[in-house]
Amino acid sequence: MSVHTIVLLPGAIGFEADGQTSILHAAESAGIELPSSCRNGTCRTCICRVRSGEARHLIEWPSLSFDEKREGWILPCVAVAESRLELEAPLARRVVFD
Ligand code: FES
Repeated sequence: MSVHTIVLLPGAIGFEADGQTSILHAAESAGIELPSSCRNGTCRTCICRVRSGEARHLIEWPSLSFDEKREGWILPCVAVAESRLELEAPLARRVVFD
């Protein structure tokens, strides 16, 4: 199974994800918080944009328009990495535990 590095911009927050775990879940497992709500590709709360690399949606009809897909927008709750990825995710932050 391939493991890919994902970098969230502009903060350059990095983590790793395999090709089967959603990007959102992999981020959370690495202690990174991203906006989310439905977690099934409907609400668009988690929307972010691919700056480089390849991602693939796990569902056939994520809540994105054709133009949004063409422009690189993805829903990381239902998408996986297929290569090293750089994502524009300005609201991402590392969760700090006391
Ligand atoms: S959390 Fe709702 S579309 Fe991703």
